[in-house]
Amino acid sequence: MSIAGGLSLLALFSPRLSQTQTSAEHSEEIASGKRIYESCIGCHRVGSDSSSGPNLIGLGYGEIVSSLHEYKSYKKVNIMMNQVALSLTDSQIRSVARYLSSQRSAF
Ligand code: HEC
Repeated sequence: MSIAGGLSLLALFSPRLSQTQTSAEHSEEIASGKRIYESCIGCHRVGSDSSSGPNLIGLGYGEIVSSLHEYKSYKKVNIMMNQVALSLTDSQIRSVARYLSSQRSAF
């Protein structure tokens, strides 16, 4: 293989490297996000028609964070979600979003 070929291979793999480095802090966020999600399951049950809230698995990190901030600031109004969002700190919002978006591929 030429040197140039080797270098471009390296470039191909380096983004993965940085992903593994951040995944340690992500896994901590994911673990606490999972605990927070326990309080959401009553309304956001996966694969259940009877749940009163939409399925959250499959939403992206950014969508969940901005949705929760919109509920928190009453930009979006839903009596239940406004209360839920107000009870969450910004870091809890990030954690639960991290957890939910990490579950995407499992379904
Ligand atoms: C008491 C029931 C209830 C609980 C508990 C609850 N939710 Fe909700 N949630 C809802 C309902 C109902 C909606 C749909 C609101 C609407 O259509 O405006 C919703 C909508 C949402 C949305 C927007 C989804 C979308 O597709 O736009 C997000 C994100 C969300 N909830 C996150 C959470 C999180 C995270 C928790 C736990 C910390 C939680 N919810 C707990 C009832 C609940």
